Amino acid sequence: MSTILDGKKISEMRLEILKEEIEDSGLYPRLATVIVGSDPASQMYVRMKHRACEGVGIGSVGVELPADTTTQGVLDAVNRLNRDPDINGILVQLPLPKGVDSERVIAAVSPDKDVDGYHPENMGLLFSGKPRFTSCTPTGIMTLLFEYKIPVAGVRAVVVGRSIDVGRPMSALLTNADATVTLCHSKTRNLNEEIRRADILVSAIGKAHFIQPEMVKPGAVVIDVGINQLNGKLVGDVDFAAVKDIASAITPVPGGVGPMTIATLMENTFRAAKERSCDSAL
Ligand code: GUN
Repeated sequence: MSTILDGKKISEMRLEILKEEIEDSGLYPRLATVIVGSDPASQMYVRMKHRACEGVGIGSVGVELPADTTTQGVLDAVNRLNRDPDINGILVQLPLPKGVDSERVIAAVSPDKDVDGYHPENMGLLFSGKPRFTSCTPTGIMTLLFEYKIPVAGVRAVVVGRSIDVGRPMSALLTNADATVTLCHSKTRNLNEEIRRADILVSAIGKAHFIQPEMVKPGAVVIDVGINQLNGKLVGDVDFAAVKDIASAITPVPGGVGPMTIATLMENTFRAAKERSCDSAL
C-alpha cells in the first residue's frame, strides 16, 4: 500500500503557518495578476490565486486585458506594476494569446517581483545552483517531498517533459538537491526504459493515464503534474488506480501537486515583500 502524498493537506498546513508569519511581520504583501483574454481555465486559476491571497493576508490586484491586446499593451501593464512600490509580486497568467510575445513579456517582469520564477535571470540563478525565485509547481513538489521526508540526495530522478515552467526547473531543483537527474522529452529514445529506472518519477507531459504500472519501478515515488480531461473527468498523466499499488508514494489528481503550486506562490510573494522591506530599510 503506497503513501498518498496529500498536497491539499500539506498546502493547508503551510498556508496556516504562512498566515501567522505574515501577521507577525507587520507587512502587507501584494500580488498583481495579469490575465489577457477570457480563457475559462486561466480565469479559474487566477480566481484561485486571489482566493488564496485573501486567506493568508496578501492583497491582490487583478489586471484584465482584452484578448486582442498587443505585446506592447501587455508590456505597458507589466511596466506599470514594476514601478508600483505597493506591488511585491507580479504573475502574468500563461498561456498568453497567440499574438503576444510571451518571452518578451516574461523578461519584462522585474526579477525581484517575479514570483513565478520564469524570468531568465531567475532561471539562470536556479541553474547555477543559487536560486532566488523558483517556479511554483516544481518548488511545491520539492516541498511535498521534504514534508514527507522522502530522500532526494543520491536517488535517480526522472522528469518527463522539458517545459520552461515545470520540467526544466524541476530537473534543476532535483539536481541542486543532489539527485541524479534524467530529463526526458518527446525525442527521448527508449522512454519507457528511462521511466522504469526512476526512484522518483515526475510526469509533466499532459497525456491522460500515459504512465502505466509496467513503466514504474516497484517502490518508486510517483509525482503527477498532469491535469487532463478523460471521459469528462479530471485525471493526471499517471493511471493512479493501477500505479498506486506499485509506487511507495504517489500524488493524486486533483489534490496533489496543484494545491502545492498555489501555496508556493503565496510563499514566494511573502518572500518578495520581505526582501523589499529589507531593501527599503537600507
Ligand atoms: N498557467 C498555468 N499555471 C501557471 C502558473 O503557475 N503561472 C502562470 N503565470 N501561468 C500559469
